[in-house]
Amino acid sequence: MTSQYILGIETSCDETAIALLECSDEAPARILAEEISSQHDVHRLYGGVVPELASREHLKALPVLFDRVMQDSGIAIEDLSLVAVTLGPGLKGCLLMGVNFAKGLVFDSDIPLIGVNHIEGHVVAPLLDNPQLSFPFLALVVSGGHTEIHQVHGIGAYRLVARTSDDAAGEAFDKSAHLLCFEYPGGAKLAALADRAPGKHRFSLPKVMRESEGLSFSGLKTAIALLVKREADQIKSDEERKADLCAAIQESIVDALCYKLGKAIKKTGIKRVCVTGGVSANASLRKRVADIAEEVYFPATLHCMDNAAMIAYLGFHKYRMREMTTELDIFPRWPIETALSVQV
Ligand code: KG4
Ligand code: ZN
Repeated sequence: MTSQYILGIETSCDETAIALLECSDEAPARILAEEISSQHDVHRLYGGVVPELASREHLKALPVLFDRVMQDSGIAIEDLSLVAVTLGPGLKGCLLMGVNFAKGLVFDSDIPLIGVNHIEGHVVAPLLDNPQLSFPFLALVVSGGHTEIHQVHGIGAYRLVARTSDDAAGEAFDKSAHLLCFEYPGGAKLAALADRAPGKHRFSLPKVMRESEGLSFSGLKTAIALLVKREADQIKSDEERKADLCAAIQESIVDALCYKLGKAIKKTGIKRVCVTGGVSANASLRKRVADIAEEVYFPATLHCMDNAAMIAYLGFHKYRMREMTTELDIFPRWPIETALSVQV
């Protein structure tokens, strides 16, 4: 099989991303060019993503990023083998911007267009950056909107192990950060301060998710809110105390995730683990997962967050498997198990 040039487009939330990959059956995928434009500066003012503004930002950014990617890669539009775009899950207006841009690109050409699932993109991201990674593995997807654990037996062959019934891990980080007055999105900022904590362990939060089967962050969120309220005055003038508080919050979220991951390893007997999605950039989580799994893989730092390289990579494999969506409609809610060819 000769090389194929796959363009990926991602606009499900507040990152506009375009990537061009060279893929073939014989060699690992190669990223020829990729661009990610974050809208954090726009949404910071409001303390969270404003969907209408996000859609408009995608509309502005898409043609700019596309031109840059085509120029950097040196590939002409007519040489594209496939365009892959995120159909969901995500914000309706944002998804529409990406899908319509993709449709416009291939209009009046023979270039096939395929729609893919964003969460599935996160699941395959570690494969893109670690070509030596083999199946089966457990994928812990920890992002701003999703927290789930899947058994992965191949691309398109998954079994859901657990999924959060309320907040996602990234949301737990971001909402805690908001209470502590970090600018949006505060997750990484809270984590950075936590990592500088003097280690006095002045605070403790309940160990959650021990009894229930699934994942849930609502109880922990309430406990964090109460603790932050109690400490509000003292941490204003005491950065070390604030850092200790951040460390306790980070520890409680990481501990809950690792507890569930440990249970999933035991239950499935699969000891190879991938952690993916925005929160997989968290250093404390990376260290703890390495302690409980036999082998651990992460995406490259750039591919922990929302990106289009994972979308192009997934599109390539789905197209090869002839697993294509003929109707390019958007799916704001689209659980990964309904986007598959094989369920194991
Ligand atoms: O995967 P992603 O880019 O977007 C979604 O699909 O949601 O994940 C973004 C999430 C945000 O909640 C952000 O605060 C969180 O990932 N995040 C982190 C870190 N870096 C990003 N959370 C904890 N520690 C980090 N270092
Ligand atoms: Zn994501």
